[in-house]
Order: sequence, then C-alpha cells, then structure tokens
Amino acid sequence: MRITDTSDLWWKTAVVYCLDVQTFMDWNDDGMGDFVGLTERIDYLHELGVTCLWLMPFYPTADRDDGYDVTDYYGVDPRLGSAGDFVELVRTARDRGMRVIVDLVVNHTSDRHPWFRSARSSPTSPYRDFYVWREDKPPDTSKQVVFPDKEDSLWQYDEKAGAWYFHRFYRSQPDLNITDQRVRDEIVKAMGFWLELGVSGFRVDAVPFIVETTGVDAQELARFHDPHAYLRELREFVGRRTGDGILLGECNLPHKDQKAFFGGSDGDELTMQFDFIGMQNLYLSLAREDARPLARAVKRRPKVAEESQWATFVRNHDELTLDKLSDGERDEVFAAFGPERAMQLYGRGLRRRLPPMLDGDPRRIRMVYSLLFSLPGTPVLFYGEEIGMGENLEVEGRLAVRTPMQWTAERNGGFSRARPSRLRRPLPDGPFGPEHVNVADQRQDRESLLSFITLLIKRYRESPELGWAQFHVLDQPHRNVLAHECAHDERRLVALHNLAASSCTVPLTLEGCDSTHHLVDLLHEGSDFSVDDRGRTEIPLDGFGYRWLRLSLDRRRLA
Ligand code: NOJ
Repeated sequence: MRITDTSDLWWKTAVVYCLDVQTFMDWNDDGMGDFVGLTERIDYLHELGVTCLWLMPFYPTADRDDGYDVTDYYGVDPRLGSAGDFVELVRTARDRGMRVIVDLVVNHTSDRHPWFRSARSSPTSPYRDFYVWREDKPPDTSKQVVFPDKEDSLWQYDEKAGAWYFHRFYRSQPDLNITDQRVRDEIVKAMGFWLELGVSGFRVDAVPFIVETTGVDAQELARFHDPHAYLRELREFVGRRTGDGILLGECNLPHKDQKAFFGGSDGDELTMQFDFIGMQNLYLSLAREDARPLARAVKRRPKVAEESQWATFVRNHDELTLDKLSDGERDEVFAAFGPERAMQLYGRGLRRRLPPMLDGDPRRIRMVYSLLFSLPGTPVLFYGEEIGMGENLEVEGRLAVRTPMQWTAERNGGFSRARPSRLRRPLPDGPFGPEHVNVADQRQDRESLLSFITLLIKRYRESPELGWAQFHVLDQPHRNVLAHECAHDERRLVALHNLAASSCTVPLTLEGCDSTHHLVDLLHEGSDFSVDDRGRTEIPLDGFGYRWLRLSLDRRRLA
C-alpha cells in the first residue's frame, strides 16, 4: 500500500457511525441523552471499531424536525450539554483515534432563528433577503413537497411579513437564499467555527436543495448562477482550514445526477455521497432473493476521482426511502418487508429497522451486514444496528427508528435512570425490546450480532482494498448469489453472498491465478480453499451464507 492509501485519504477506509446525542446515553438522569453520556460511551464505539462519528444536529433548535431546524449555528442545545462538553467529546474521540463530523443544516433555518424573526418583521430588515419571498399568490406546488403528510405547498403565507416564503421542507423551516453573498458568508463562518473546535468535516444536509434557486428573482440569480462553483468554494474552504476535512453529502438523486456533485475529474466538490440507489436496490434484491438488482446498481455507480468516495448504508435516520424504485418494485419491497400501512411512510418508504423486517433471522441479518462492509465504499452505520435494534411503530413517523440506544436489559434499556414517562420516545417492547436486544448481553456473547459486526469491522479495516477498489462482479451461475472481487495494489479479496435460503456451491474462475494460489476465509476460522492450475475453484455457501476470501499466494502471510 502506498502511504497515501491508508492514512491521508482517511475517509476511504473509515467506519462511520451516525448517532443522535439525545437518544444515545443520558448521564444526568433527565430523560434525554447528552454529550457527557456519549463521551462515557466512546470506548464502546472504539472497541466496535468505529473511526468516524457523525453527529446528527445538536444545535439549539425549535425542535419541530428533531433538530434539523436550527435556531443558532454556534451553539449546543442546552438540554444536551454545553460547548465545553462538546469539546470534551471531540478530544476524547480524537484520543481514541476517532474523528467527528457534524450535520450541517443550511438549506434552511428554523422560523425561530433570529434572522427569520427579523426578516419577517419588515421588508427593510437587513435579513429580509436571507430568505426567499414572493408577494403574489404562488402556483400549486403540492406535488413537490417532501413531507406530504404535513405540507401541501412549498410556499407559506406569513401574516407578519405580508408575503409568502419558500420552504422545501416543513413550513417551520424557511429556506435560506443562497444567492445572497451574506448568507454564503454566514455559512462558511459557522463551518469555520466547528472546524476550529476540532471536527473533521460535515454531513451536508439536503445538498441539491441548498443550491437550488427556486423563487429567487432573476437579477439575483444572474449574480449567482453556478451552484457547483459554490460547492467547490465550500470544499476548498474546508480543505484550507483543515487539510483533510470532508463533506459527506446527502443527495438522493439518480446516480448520473450525483456524479455532478462530486465535481470535476479531480473530485473538487463533495468528498463523499451516500449511495441511495445502491441501498434501495439492496432491498429489492433481498425481497426477490435475487442479487442482480444490487449488482446492477453498484456496477452503474459512476466512477469517481481517487479522492472521492461512495458511502454505503443499510438504513439512515429517515424513512427507508424507496423513491427511486419503480412503483412495481417498491410494492414488492413493501409486500416483503412492510406490508402494513403503519410500517410505511409518505407512500415511498418504510419506517422499520432491518431485523424486524427480516423477522429477526440471524443468518439473513448477518449476510446483509457482511454485504455492507464488503461492497466497495465507506460503510455508515446508524446507532443500534450493531446490536440489531428494532423500531417502535408507536412512535410517530420517521422517529420510529430513533428510539433510545439499548444498553442493558434494565429499565429504559439502561439509556436513562429517569422515570420512563420522562423519556421523549418510548423504547420498543417485545422481541426487539431491551430485555432481548442490548449491548451488555451481547458483549458477553461471542456468538452475538455485536461480536459479529465487531469482527466484520476488524476484517474491513484490515482490508483497505474494500474502500479503494472498483466493483467487479465475478461470473457464476446462481442469480441469488453476488460474487464480487475487490482488487487494489497487490491485494485481492473475493466476497460471496447468498441472498436465498437454500445452500449452493459457487464455481469461480479467478483471473491470473493457478494452483500456487489459495483462498483464505476471513470470517470463518480454518476455512481455506485451493485453486487449480487454471484458476478454478468451488466454494460452498449456506443458505444466506457469506464469505470474504483473501486471495493469497504465500501461506505464511497473514490472511
Ligand atoms: C434531510 C434529513 O435527513 C431529514 O431528517 C430532515 O428532516 C431534512 N433533511 C430537513 O432538514
């Protein structure tokens, strides 16, 4: 490995872990998670093998969108702790070799942000143009709203302002007017602030909407006409201030449109983007027990510059969106994994976590996480996935998957010592409740999901080719099997995944190999497969089985 491969471009081989401070660990017994609690749990995350924490919004907020409605870009929500507690967390994480990135929510502010309060109060407010206004009646935009259960227009009439303002999300989240230079200056100032406090970059919320300019008048638009130039500026800024800070962008778009957000051939805009298309096709493949939709999606990912990277994930904190599948495909996934109305959201997604969708089948759950960590890209875990937490459908909307972390079998899952009624969201009951699914039990159990995911992360971190390689599907006869190879420099790893319940044997022909080679199974101790003099081998796979096979020449080398 060249030296830059393993260290400088740290995000290429990172393990990202997303969490919300308010649901992770409550240290002052008030029923809400806090920075002190999270800091106390850094060693747990370190042992798991996490290398980068992504903190969901922790800023002062009006709390109408779980923190994605910020009232102060320079603060910490006092319910979660202080700025000092934030710095302690970053320092402790850094001490364990862990970076921290934070959510940057600048498509909009809260309507309680002082800028908007001032802007709506008078047309002559210096902040008026921080937002997007119109005086005439807006057209029908009901088809374009993001949250159709709560909104039916992208414009909201404001009595105080005597005008309509633009909001891509909830009406309590007025969009900032990015064409105003002062807004752009404010955004970089806030970014600079958190970078000085030690963060390694940002998960950038709603990127395509940040740079969209709907409703902005033509004159202003003429002054600001290149959204990509703006993203380049942000990336340059992060680079100048930190050297190796990143922008991990949320762009739920078709692959071809995502490509533009990575920038030019040198990857000078977003450093990483979530692969929403790969994620949605993963579920289609699982529903059909057919690996081809997933293989096709990952194969069609646009090639990106060496500095850029795809981020892979099984689910995030929102509804598990299936919006880029066809109606028929989405119906197949709904039928397989969320047939009840209460499990679905906005007609396009599921508000469930993976284990309940798979009826808790441990083989299938493990196979999915084996896929997550072996598909080329940087894996992103959502808190609780490592122990197989379920959702609580009693909790409203998207928040069903944002219940407290389950640490022990005790009251409140060991998350808080407050009275259960003080918790903002109840934990689930039943087979996925804390009595059955918790960290403490799984830490003691070498066969637990937690132990398995810890092993996957260990092997993933020992195999930098997984982060660096392009996707290369190997020919074999079973449609329910995904066989792919990741090769980078002198390293080669073959991964096999069986998406169906029946076992099979996978014949493979490995290019450039002969009987001096053999395959060492990195996940099942003691399994080793020979290759014949024409590079052929046969690998048995259980139902829902998986293998990571390191191609090795020299038996003395560590697999
Ligand atoms: C995308 C975030 O993931 C979601 O949780 C939020 O509601 C919207 N952006 C608005 O900020």
